[in-house]
Parts: sequence; structure tokens; C-alpha cells
Amino acid sequence: MSETCHPAPAGLPDSIDRAGYEEAYRRSVADPEGYWRGEAERVDWITPFTQVKDTSFDEADFRIRWYADGELNVSVNCVDRHLATRADQVAIVWEGDEPGETRTLTYRELHRDMCRFANVLKSLGVRRGDRVTLYLPMIADAAAAMLACTRIGAIHSIVFGGFSPDSLANRIQDCDSRIVITADEGCRGGKRIPLKANVDKAVAHCPGVEHVLVIRRTGGDVAMTAGRDVWLHDALESVDDDCAPEPMGAEDPLFILYTSGSTGKPKGVLHTTGGYLVWVTKTFKEVFDYRDGELFWCTADIGWVTGHSYVVYGPLANGATTVMFDGVPNYPDHGRLWETVDRLGVNILYTAPTAIRALMREGDQWVTRHSRASLRLLGSVGEPINPEAWNWYHRVVGDSRCPVVDTWWQTETGGILISPLPYATDLKPGSATRPLPGVQPQIVDAEGKVLEGATEGNLCLTDSWPGQMRTVWNDHERFFQTYFTTYPGKYFTGDGCRRDGDGYYWITGRVDDVINVSGHRMGTAEVESALVAHASVAEAAVVGMPHEVKGQGIYAFVTLNAGEQPSDALRAALRQWVREEIGPIATPDALQFAPGLPKTRSGKIMRRILRKIAENDLGALGDTSTLADPSVVDALVADRVG
Ligand code: PRX
Repeated sequence: MSETCHPAPAGLPDSIDRAGYEEAYRRSVADPEGYWRGEAERVDWITPFTQVKDTSFDEADFRIRWYADGELNVSVNCVDRHLATRADQVAIVWEGDEPGETRTLTYRELHRDMCRFANVLKSLGVRRGDRVTLYLPMIADAAAAMLACTRIGAIHSIVFGGFSPDSLANRIQDCDSRIVITADEGCRGGKRIPLKANVDKAVAHCPGVEHVLVIRRTGGDVAMTAGRDVWLHDALESVDDDCAPEPMGAEDPLFILYTSGSTGKPKGVLHTTGGYLVWVTKTFKEVFDYRDGELFWCTADIGWVTGHSYVVYGPLANGATTVMFDGVPNYPDHGRLWETVDRLGVNILYTAPTAIRALMREGDQWVTRHSRASLRLLGSVGEPINPEAWNWYHRVVGDSRCPVVDTWWQTETGGILISPLPYATDLKPGSATRPLPGVQPQIVDAEGKVLEGATEGNLCLTDSWPGQMRTVWNDHERFFQTYFTTYPGKYFTGDGCRRDGDGYYWITGRVDDVINVSGHRMGTAEVESALVAHASVAEAAVVGMPHEVKGQGIYAFVTLNAGEQPSDALRAALRQWVREEIGPIATPDALQFAPGLPKTRSGKIMRRILRKIAENDLGALGDTSTLADPSVVDALVADRVG
């Protein structure tokens, strides 16, 4: 079933239409140099570039460089350049955990806060190229902190406030941050999150950290270590309101963001200055067809890439008004999003399928008691949206009058790659539809054979786009190995994908050992290594399982050490253990004690079989005869949990 394209509302005469999209796509592929030279004009350059695209995915001359000899500053693009025309326009609407707890910040105020913050960082010794770790709630100061880093050329690494002290410590160590910025506490769903206390635990393992800069959010009591810890409000007293922006090379690092992969520890995805900014500026404007004066609300946390690109950089680079939401969709009740939409007058809402499914379950009345008249456009991101949730979002939330843009992208891609344009694309519920200009998807089979026409296989991208990640922090070899060796000469996304007869793309989910829990990436290897770190555990294997609200849940098979007895108490203790080791999002939904794991004779765990058991697809276990001990499968099937 498909929905024909929504007509552009009167008053938006210059929206991209179907012909405009087709023409832009054609040009972007036929003449990438010319196309991307023009698109870079969305951004203000300090030193104009002469080179545009300099990329190759081939091993022999592997390189990804865009606008390499140009210079610019991201904070200037996001703030200063708007001062002449919109200094008194609201840049950020902060909405707290409690409804109505709001604060607005104009571009002029944001400029002052960002400059002062940058001067504080300088006073703490932060210099161009230094890494600064942010572990913060969704407060306006978090955006000021990000921009302050970009002002002076420091590289921020934001760690989601839901991660444990251990996870935070690993990320601080990996990029050698000397400074950590946090708040006393966060507030989420009426609960306090002990951010500063978590930082204290993490920093105990990070001797390289010289200062912890603390923002007062709740006024909760926190310990301050003399000489190391500094209150932001104290430090601000002695700084200037102005801070000159550092001219940065287009290929200078902008930020690091850790994300989970198939193997090992999370990787530090590195994005650079010029290409990333061009990409998020363009995609924000075009995918959301943003208009001056509109209020844009992306519900993501800045701890994830969606928060980087579509709460902060994309909107601010366009001079938009962006909402920063420090709460959750079901607090104080299931009508929170719609109550907030009405109260603030939100025009564009961008959220995740997991939130949509969770709210859908609670019944339409939570939505329909609010008018939602201000809404013009709805967006979805983070995981495949099932058609039922898509239809509910479109019909109930959007009253069938708002287009839904289902946007496919990844931390690695910097911004949206496959998505409808709201007034140019016929929509199909569950499909991210067509690639944006400059994006060249290809579907291949397991052997790398290119599949044409209507087909299903693994999703690759055959050419670079400006917003592409440039490396894994400190591990360029891992970058190449992870993304460019499975199918030589191509970027492999890790996603499965179907293409229909109309050339529409339908992302089917990860085909690697990454689980997408509520739109958040979790590596099975990370959860496994947390489990085996427990004294009772000998071995663990983790796979994804279907979950009605989260999309995927985490199913863990655990083999205990000799002498340990399975029990409900131990199961609860192990779930709690993982929660504390990594963070609540990694908590196994199901945990099965297994006398043994299915292994090949060479000792490799056959995850295919475990996945089928977790999915309760017992008829499809396939050939088990190559297992060292096929009888373990029967025991696993008999003891399946959930
Ligand atoms: O599997 C895809 C899924 O999320 C993965 C990327 O996760 P992350 O890097 O955390 O970024 C999430 C926000 C961009 C992808 O490999 N994914 C993301 N958006 C969609 C999606 N799957 C289907 N449809 C989407 N719209």
C-alpha cells in the first residue's frame, strides 16, 4: 500500500517537488564536483576551498576528503552568522522533565553563553585538537558546551548520560580527554540521575583527567574534589563575553562519538568539520523542509548522533528554533509529547519508532485529547518502523495531513541518507523510500554479487558523501577493516535491505552482531564480555530477539562456572550486573542458563541457531549436524525462556 505524495501546503511554494528531486539526484551523480561545490554554499567559509571531492574506497588509494583546503568554524555557522538577521529569535527552547519547566535562549544569548563557555574551557587549558568528554543531561548548556568546543577547535566526545561509570571511563580513556563536563544530576521521568557521582567513579580510573567542569542542574548535593572539580557558574564569573573563533580546516576533527559494532569495544566514530556541516545543514533543510519561524522538535538525546545532527548542528546552522527535551515521552503521562506540542506550538516532530509503538499501545485518547494543530511534518529514525506504527503515527498523530519522513542513516553517515522528501515522494509505510542526492545505494548478496532491480540483500554505498565518518579514533585500520573489506571498494552499512519494483528501499535490520534496542545500538560482544566478567559466569552468547516495543530485545545464553547453580536470584543478579557494567539499555530482556552452547568442532559458537531459539522460530534451526555436540540444541530449546 502506498500513500500518494502530500501536496506542499500553501505558503510553502518553493518546496522541492518530484521533478526537483529527480533533477538534483541526477546532477549529484553525473557531476558530483559541481553539485557539491554548489551545496557547500550553505555554509560560510573563512577560507574558500578549491578542492571538492577527493575520495576512494579502494585499498590502494583509500581516502575520504571533502573541501580539504577550505577553512571554517562550526560555531560561527551555527550562531554568529545569524546575529545580523535573527539575534532576538529563539534558538533553543529547553523543555525540562516537568511539563512547563521551560527556558528559551535567543541566538544572541546563545552566542554569549557559548563564548563564555569557550573562555572557561580555555582557562582550564583546553586547546585546539584537545578532546573534551561531555556527560550531560539535555540542557541548553549542553548545546553551549558543544558549540564552545567547536569555537576553539576542541573535539567533543559526548557520552550518553545513561551509560555506566565503566562505559564512561572507557570512552574517556580511549580518546585521552583531560576535561570532562557534567552536571550535578540529571532528571528523567521524575527520577534523579547521579551524573557527577558517576563521573567521580569513572575518573577514578582515568588519571589523565585534569578537570571536571560541573553544571548546576538540580542543586543536588555532590562531592567536589578540590583542584580538580570546578563549578561552571564560578568559572563564568571571571571570563569575557567574547571569544574569537578558531579557523578550522574542513578535514579537522569536529567530534568523536562512540558507537557499538560487531566486535570489541565501541569505536570512536570521527566526524570532521566541513563535510559534516554541509551534510547536516542540507539534510535538515530539505528532509524537514524547514521554514523560518517554525519550531522543530527532535526528541533524541545529544548522547546519540541524532541529537548531534538534528537537535544541535543541523537546526542551528539553518537559523532554526530547536527544542531540547530533558524528559521522556511517558512522563508524567502518555500524553506528554502531544501536550508539549500544543503548548510550545511544535511544527515538526522527529522521534523514534520505539516511542511511537510504546505510545500507540496506550490508546488514541492520549493523543486525540490534544489538538496537534501546529504539526506540519512527522519524522522517524533509529530502526525500521513497522507499517502498523507508521500508519498510527500518520493517521492518529498527524490526522492524515502530515507527511511522515522515515529517515534511514547511521552514526557513521553523519546525517540522513535515505528518506522521503515531504512534498516530493510518494510514501509507503515502512519504507525509507529513496536515496537523497549524492547517496548511491547498492544491494549485494553474501558473496558481493551486485543484485539489480527488485531484490533483497546487504546494503552498501558505492561512493562517498560529505557527511561520511573519516576514521575510527586512533584506529584507522579498524575503520578500513570494518566498513570497506566485506565488499571491497564499497562502504558496507551492516544493514539488510530490500528494494521493491519502484526502486524503494526497505531496511530490514542489522545483519551483523549488532542489536538495535529501542533505536540504540548494542554490540552482542559488549554484553557478552560484561556477562563473563561476573564471577559465576563461564561463557555467554547474546543475540537479538523480537520485542513489541523496543524493536529488538537482548537474549542472553549463559553457561555457569562449575559449582554454580542456576536460580532466579542469580538471573536477576546477572541482569543487574550488566545494567551496572554498561548501562540500563544493555540489560538482557531474557536470560537463559545453558548447560552448553552450540559450537562447531572448531569451537565457533553458531549464533544462527541461538537467534532462531531466541526468536522462537524452532522449525528453522537448520542443519545442526556440524555441531560438536548436537544434543546441546535440544537442551536449549527445552529451557527457552520468555
Ligand atoms: O540498522 C539501522 C538502524 O539504525 C542503525 C544505525 O544506528 P545508529 O548508528 O545508532 O544511528 C541511529 C540514528 C541514525 C542502522 O544501521 N536505522 C536507523 N534509522 C533507520 C534504521 N533502520 C530502519 N529504518 C530507519 N529509518
